[in-house]
Order: sequence, then structure tokens, then C-alpha cells
Amino acid sequence: MDASFVILVAFVVASSGFELTSDIGTSCTNSEQCVNGASCVNDKCACPDDHVPHGDNTSCLEKVNSQCEGRDCIAHASCVELDGSRVCECNVGFVRNAAGDQCLAKVGTDCSGGVPCLGDGTCDVTAELCECVAGHSPNSDYSICGVNVQGTCNIDSDCVQYAVCNEGTCACDVGFKGPETCVKIALGDNCTMPNDCKHVKHAVCAEKQCACAATYTQQDNVCSDFA
Ligand SMILES: *[C@@H]1O[C@H](CO)[C@@H](O)[C@H](O)[C@H]1NC(C)=O
Ligand SMILES: *[C@@H]1O[C@H](CO)[C@@H](O)[C@H](O)[C@H]1NC(C)=O
Repeated sequence: MDASFVILVAFVVASSGFELTSDIGTSCTNSEQCVNGASCVNDKCACPDDHVPHGDNTSCLEKVNSQCEGRDCIAHASCVELDGSRVCECNVGFVRNAAGDQCLAKVGTDCSGGVPCLGDGTCDVTAELCECVAGHSPNSDYSICGVNVQGTCNIDSDCVQYAVCNEGTCACDVGFKGPETCVKIALGDNCTMPNDCKHVKHAVCAEKQCACAATYTQQDNVCSDFA
């Protein structure tokens, strides 16, 4: 390569200020020196409070639900049209954390290459998919790993789907049965109170089992009013 060409390129890069741009966390004297969206605070480039530094500290990214016209969203999120404005939303297979500064892979989503899994989830190293940690199970849209029945909880939302937190322990809600996750109580299942059978139309709790009420006949798993 022609030496004068190399010198020319070096000169253009240097004089454009490109090499002088400071990454997040590095020193600065004014905000113009800082990378995309960052400003100079206490002599260091920093993202504004409502922004998240890119993993390599070269830009400030928009959180979930923030306007993103012309700006990049956090990892695993995209800029989408919502009610007339463009906002960042987690991609399919991902769920936001409470702060909106991370999109986490749901149960069953590819987590290879260090993609973070949802809360109480972990990356199965063989399958490279997120799964719930022991003692937890996913809800029906795979966006939560809840504590299984008989596990410890503080509030209802700690527990698996259709369970409630009863004095610090997850238990299936009325009308649902365990043993680990909760499913609807069906005809022929054990019951202790009338409401236990509420998911089967025209069923009652008779002799501790869900059965069809007097004028109904069981046909498959439903109570039918004609014989
Ligand atoms: C990004 O900046 C933070 C805080 O200034 C620092 O702790 C971290 O090591 C930096 N990351 C990289 C990849 O440079
Ligand atoms: C239903 O109740 C009977 C009698 O109490 C008990 O032996 C049985 O194990 C129960 N079945 C289930 C699935 O809980």
C-alpha cells in the first residue's frame, strides 16, 4: 500500500475527532467528547439515568417502553410502532425485567452466548435453552418461573400459575390441584368443598369427589343434561 495513502487516512481519522470520542466510564472535560447519548458528569462520560450503557460502553441505549426514534434499544429489544410513537419492546421470546433495563430470555428461548435467562431461570448448558431452576415451573406463556406447590413464598405472584401464597407456602388456588404445578380439578378428582369443582359446569362435591349434579349425566369429562 502507498505510504502517503496510509498517512492521509490516519490524518482524516484523527482530524474528524473520531479517535477522541470517550467511551462511557472514561474521563472527559465536556459532553461533546462523550460517545452517543452520554454526557460528561464528574469528569467521566456517563449515560443519563433513563439510559443503559451498551455492553462495550460505546453508546447509551433506550430502555423498554422508551421512545427510540433514531436511537438503539437495549439488547434483545427492538424499536416498534405503538399507539403512534416508536418505543423499545423486548423481542419475541424475551420478557422485560421490572426496571425495563434488561430483556431476559423466557423458558425455552435460546440462551447460548451468555444471553441472560428470566428470573429463577437458568441456561441449560446442553440444550442452550432457558429453563426454570429446581423447585420452580413456568407459567403458560413461559414468561415466569414460579415456586412450585409447597415451596416458600412471600406473595401470590411468587408461586406457580393458579397457586396462592398461603402463610408462606405455595398452595393451589380453589378449583386447582397439584402436586407440583396446579391444574383444574376435573370430574372424579378429590374435593373437600363445593368450590373445588367449580371448573366443571353442573358438578358438585359429593362424597369427597367431583361428580355431576343430580339431574346431569357424566359424558366424557362434562356433565350433560340429557341422558
Ligand atoms: C464499562 O464501564 C463500566 C463503568 O464505567 C466499567 O465498569 C466496565 O468495565 C466497562 N466495560 C467495558 C467492556 O469496558
Ligand atoms: C383421594 O382421596 C382418597 C381418600 O381420601 C385418597 O386415598 C387418595 O390418595 C386421594 N387421591 C388423590 C389423587 O389425592
